[in-house]
Amino acid sequence: MTQKTGILYGIGVGPGDPDLITLKAVKILRQVDIVFAAASTKNDHSLAVNIAREHIPDRAPVVRLKFPMTRDKSETRKAWKAHSQTIIAELEKGRNVAFLTLGDSMTYSTFGYILKYVQTIAPHLEVRTVPGITSYQAAAARLNTPLVEGEESLMVVSGAQGGHRLRELHAKPENVVFLKAYRNVTDIKAAIDETGNYPCCVGVKSCGHPDEEIINDIEELGRRKPDYWTLILTKHANNNGTMKDASTTTRKEGGLDPRPEAGKT
Ligand SMILES: C[S@@+](CC[C@H](N)C(=O)[O-])C[C@H]1O[C@@H](n2cnc3c(N)ncnc32)[C@H](O)[C@@H]1O
Repeated sequence: MTQKTGILYGIGVGPGDPDLITLKAVKILRQVDIVFAAASTKNDHSLAVNIAREHIPDRAPVVRLKFPMTRDKSETRKAWKAHSQTIIAELEKGRNVAFLTLGDSMTYSTFGYILKYVQTIAPHLEVRTVPGITSYQAAAARLNTPLVEGEESLMVVSGAQGGHRLRELHAKPENVVFLKAYRNVTDIKAAIDETGNYPCCVGVKSCGHPDEEIINDIEELGRRKPDYWTLILTKHANNNGTMKDASTTTRKEGGLDPRPEAGKT
């Protein structure tokens, strides 16, 4: 008789606030046999694990897979493949596996790479992807600012190459979200100014985490030490400027704040 294989669940745990994990993710986490998450080779931190921690049963080991922080694609491919094989070995033993990612599991996510390798190396294995709330949805909610309305469009781009994508595509979208903005804030701001189409722009750092910040002055954000957990929301000329009016800098200034003061580690 052939052994029953396990299921791989790719789970987006949301952007930071532990209350923004979905019920579906929680229900699955309570039942899995082992949990994987990406971590840097420099340390063992996994924000995704911290967010999901209270829902992971004690019996389920948590394994942090180390990924080299390098631009050398062959190095990263090697790591993805090796880690996928580690996960496949668990699935072949009949264990149900969760792979955690921050925000949504299909948005600039490490799970996308694992998924490709698992489907290529072991196409007989079952994979179920569980979506999560993205960082930019949380940021828009934090700013009480709609991302899109009526017939508008929204472009989500990587800021890893600065304002390059906006310079190419700015004639089209009314609203633009830059993820991975941290190293290139100054060039992104320059591209926003060049197009002249987006007078409203706001930086949001560590949305939903205890060190959350709303940065209305993007030039000032550009002068700061780059922080990976940074995104920029921009809106077109017809916007009524509500984002700029969001002058509070931290949620601690008032209102309901149910978040535990958990650190990043
Ligand atoms: C590799 S992408 C991952 C995106 C994630 N899967 C999502 O759905 O939001 C990493 C980038 O997402 C953004 N990001 C993720 N979490 C964030 C947060 N809590 N606050 C602000 N930006 C965040 C930052 O721009 C960061 O550089």
